[in-house]
Amino acid sequence: MSYPDSTSLSAQLSERAKQVYPGGTTRGQTYYAPYPIYVDRAEGCQVIDVDGTSRIDFLNNYTVQFFGHSHPDIVAAVQAQAACGMCFTMPSELDIELAEMILGRAASFEHLRFTNTGTEAVMHAIKGARAYTGKPKIAKCEGVYHGAYDFAEVSLDSNPQLWGQDRPQSVGHTHGVPAGVTSDVVILPFNDVAASQRILEENADDLAGVLFDVVPSRCGGIPASADYIKMLKSFTRAHDRVFILDEVVTWRLDYGGAQTLYGVEPDMTTLGKVIGGGMPIGAVAGREEVMRVYDSSVGKAMCSHSGTFAGNPVTMAAGIAAMKMLTPEAIERLNGLGERARAGLREAFRLADIDGQVTGEGSIILMHFSSEPLGDYRATWRAHTDRRAEMLEDLFRHLLNRGILFSTWGIGCLSTPMGEAEVDHLTGAVLASLIEMKQETEKELAS
Ligand SMILES: Cc1ncc(COP(=O)(O)O)c(C=O)c1O
Repeated sequence: MSYPDSTSLSAQLSERAKQVYPGGTTRGQTYYAPYPIYVDRAEGCQVIDVDGTSRIDFLNNYTVQFFGHSHPDIVAAVQAQAACGMCFTMPSELDIELAEMILGRAASFEHLRFTNTGTEAVMHAIKGARAYTGKPKIAKCEGVYHGAYDFAEVSLDSNPQLWGQDRPQSVGHTHGVPAGVTSDVVILPFNDVAASQRILEENADDLAGVLFDVVPSRCGGIPASADYIKMLKSFTRAHDRVFILDEVVTWRLDYGGAQTLYGVEPDMTTLGKVIGGGMPIGAVAGREEVMRVYDSSVGKAMCSHSGTFAGNPVTMAAGIAAMKMLTPEAIERLNGLGERARAGLREAFRLADIDGQVTGEGSIILMHFSSEPLGDYRATWRAHTDRRAEMLEDLFRHLLNRGILFSTWGIGCLSTPMGEAEVDHLTGAVLASLIEMKQETEKELAS
């Protein structure tokens, strides 16, 4: 069935959803106009909607589904554990096993705590850094997404009116954010070594740590420079501040995550998405000395960490099955397919003669309707605003009608059930869509 179609079951479900949800959805990222396509089921890399249309899933729940959908090993692990009990006020051997599997992967990991989401992991890491240092402030890069904790959201959507003169401003992301939140978040310009170092030094006395994503999609999906990483490392070491690396997304890039790939050496790392095999999960892993703030065996912990569902055995079982399959070979194969996809998409932009570029690392792909060099938030903001943002949404809709599920803002990723055929289908569909979009624009201009 073509999209949009007001007679579709998805369109009808969307009307029903409007009666129960503000804005017609329970999750902002799954809504798009005129209505979102509702899923019925999935198999491998195919998602089948309620109207029976099958598409290749290049979104994979925003990078969660490394192994595609319903991998038999993960399904078997979840079913077996669900039949034995779903959650308890008791630990299980499964949570120790998954923790051991994750800790063995990166040199900076000595101890770990599970959470239920990446947002929660980031929140606990920030609270842990404050407890460890006794300092209130956290530094993060302008525009970078780290989940929904209000401190982590500061200056997420900053725009030119709020950019400030000589440094990025701390801007609350939602209405009503208390001034105490914005005043305790220090904003850094991503990849600008001199300016960031100056801002960090000015705030050194009050800073608990730095929260950092080494390949943030909102800065173009281009890795931070080695000099920038080195500067953050030197600053946090020199002042004994906590270097928190957010690997909720980037963990899929390498067996030891992006920290191994780019030599980051953090004190704490936040994890999520892929480590749960499709179940909700998060984790904070790090140096034993810093992680000790969560130790409640000695009385009151310096930083309380709890959660009714943290370490629940169904999630742990799914995570163990996923971690067994997340081998260096599986990652390398998918990263190779990522290279093929990026090369094919670049060629599609060239053949269609449309101003654009393709970025991303490993199995993550980003498309932009701009050839301006990216690599920081402001350039990426310009590349995703007004007409260029509309073009990305337009491309998304064209791709839906060519059997592809991508995202409305240009990010996508691969899963292991995919091979060259699926990747080539994507690049062919993007080329055909770009040509069609160009023809539509020419027609509009002529009329
Ligand atoms: C880099 C990063 N950190 C944290 C999060 C929050 O994770 P969750 O959605 O599981 O709360 C996300 C989610 O997309 C993310 O991309």
